[in-house]
Amino acid sequence: MPFKEGDEKAGAKLFKTRCASCHTTGSGEPSKTGPNLFGLFGRHTGSVAGFTYSDANKNAGIVWDQDKLFDYLENPKKFMPGNKMAFAGLKKEKDRNDLITYLKSATK
Ligand code: HEC
Repeated sequence: MPFKEGDEKAGAKLFKTRCASCHTTGSGEPSKTGPNLFGLFGRHTGSVAGFTYSDANKNAGIVWDQDKLFDYLENPKKFMPGNKMAFAGLKKEKDRNDLITYLKSATK
């Protein structure tokens, strides 16, 4: 399923309510429960220094891009069995498109 450009503002709201408790996006910001997401696009899975990933995330062998994130965020457990992110997923395509649109600018 491919990603489609969405609404960045709506994505920012989603990030705040669904992701920000565990993730930061800015350069040099600390990891929280989840790894810092700065530079996410084009980044190899499990590559944030100093963050303790599960083996599943560390060894997934994926380079994050908009389409991979679109599938991952629908159901992280199904996309990457054994990962330790406690997040059920965003089932609505629109939510994922909006959120990824936001992440593209917020993590750069
Ligand atoms: C309850 C905390 C929590 C929430 C909420 C959460 N995450 Fe995570 N996230 C994690 C953890 C922990 C990991 C590392 C998983 C592992 O090592 O198995 C992770 C991993 C990731 C990764 C992989 C990073 C990498 O370097 O490979 C991405 C991308 C990600 N999360 C995005 C999101 C987004 C976007 C949201 C909101 C929709 C979100 N997460 C919500 C805790 C969370």
